[in-house]
Amino acid sequence: MDGIELLKNDHKRILHLINELINQDTSKVKQTDQESGRQHSKMFGKLRETLIQHLDIEERTLFLNLKGFLDARMLVDECYRDHKGIDETLKKIEKLPEETQRDGCAGLLAELELRVQTYVVREEDWLFPKAKLVLGDAKLEEMFFEIEQTKSNQSEIDSLIFLPDHFGVCL
Ligand SMILES: [Fe+2]
Repeated sequence: MDGIELLKNDHKRILHLINELINQDTSKVKQTDQESGRQHSKMFGKLRETLIQHLDIEERTLFLNLKGFLDARMLVDECYRDHKGIDETLKKIEKLPEETQRDGCAGLLAELELRVQTYVVREEDWLFPKAKLVLGDAKLEEMFFEIEQTKSNQSEIDSLIFLPDHFGVCL
């Protein structure tokens, strides 16, 4: 397995988490407002954490490795813009006022899903093949370890600081 495959696995996981969250909101299973709010909040927390970690790791490894290659620059810039857009939507969800959280969240989750889908296609169909071409197999295999190392360093840092379980959104 190489670094690109690790990033692709993250993409699958992220899209799955977004889907789960959207399905949970439209689920017919009987739950009290408080129960469903708590569950939604927990799931959103997990999605947010996974997504932010992925974007951060990608910028520190793949994007950084591609920095010196002129023919990859335009694609990397577009992916940076995708990251920024995804981050903006995440922040909008976090900032929803309490009284409009439920309705507002559905629209914003759809926006997030679309942004992530568009970004995943750009990376998997364009950026990753370009990275394979310019970086080569050996570098991509090395990147596997860079990604794993960055993930484990982040988990160590996270365990040292307080991370709230609930983000207080979409209740
Ligand atoms: Fe990605």
